[in-house]
Amino acid sequence: MSENRGTLYGIGVGPGDPDLITIKAVKAMAEVDVIFTASSSKNSFSLAVEIAQPHLPQEVEVVVLPFPMTKDKEVMGKAWNENADTIAAVLDQGKNAAFLTLGDPLTYSTFGYIAQCMQKSYPDYPMVTISGITSFQAAAARINTPLVEGEETLMITSGAYGGAHVRRVAEGAENVVLLKAYKNVDDIAEALSESNLLDHSCAVKKCGREGEEVIWNVGDLKEIKPDYWTLIIAKQNNELRR
Ligand SMILES: C[S@@+](CC[C@H](N)C(=O)[O-])C[C@H]1O[C@@H](n2cnc3c(N)ncnc32)[C@H](O)[C@@H]1O
Repeated sequence: MSENRGTLYGIGVGPGDPDLITIKAVKAMAEVDVIFTASSSKNSFSLAVEIAQPHLPQEVEVVVLPFPMTKDKEVMGKAWNENADTIAAVLDQGKNAAFLTLGDPLTYSTFGYIAQCMQKSYPDYPMVTISGITSFQAAAARINTPLVEGEETLMITSGAYGGAHVRRVAEGAENVVLLKAYKNVDDIAEALSESNLLDHSCAVKKCGREGEEVIWNVGDLKEIKPDYWTLIIAKQNNELRR
C-alpha cells in the first residue's frame, strides 16, 4: 500500500490576489484529488479556497476541516490529530491532497500544526510544503518600501495581545511587523509611541483584496476599528507617513 500512497502538499495561496500564487502551487493544485482547508468550527467559509479558485480543477473535492477557536490545548490537540487522521485516510487511498492556507503555510498558519501532527503520527507519508507570499511581503510591496535592509533586524510578531511584544522586543529591532493587529489597537499605538515608532508606522488592511486600505497614521486605527485582516509595519529608519 505504502508505494501507492498519495502526497500531501501544504500550499500557501498568498495574501489575496490570485496572481500572487506561485507557479509551483498552481502546478501542484492541478495534480491533487482533494483540497483540504481550515475553518473555525463555527464557520465553514474558507478564504484560501476562494483565493485559489481560479486555479483549482473543476471537479476537485474540497473538504473543510474544523479547527476550533479555543485556547484549550486538549480540545485543539484532539482536533489537529483528527484532522491529520482524515488527511492520512485520503492519502492511503492513493490520492494526492493539498492543504491550502493564506500567505505562507509555515508562518502563523494552521498548516504548521497539521505538518507537525503528520510528522508525528504518519512519519512515512510523503509531504511537500510549497511556500507562499506572506501578507507582510505583499504589504511592503503595496507601499513600495523595503521590509529590511543591510544589517538591520526585522521582528515579526502578533498584535493579538496589544503592544506587549512591541514593548518587550521592539527596542532591539529596526523593523517590526505586527500581524493580527485588530484588537487592543490603542495599546499597540501606545507601545509603538513608547518605542518612538508611531510616526514610522503604517497599517495595511486586506492587502490585495477587495476593501484594501493603507492607514498611514496607526493612531487612526482607534477610530477605524480594523478587522482581522490588518497588519502594521514599523520602521525605525523610515518615516512611513504620506
Ligand atoms: C494567522 S495570520 C496568517 C499569516 C499568513 N500565513 C501569512 O503568511 O501572511 C493572520 C494575520 O495575517 C495578516 N494578514 C493575512 N492576510 C492579510 C492581508 N491580505 N492583508 C493584511 N493582513 C493580512 C493579518 O494581520 C491577520 O490577522
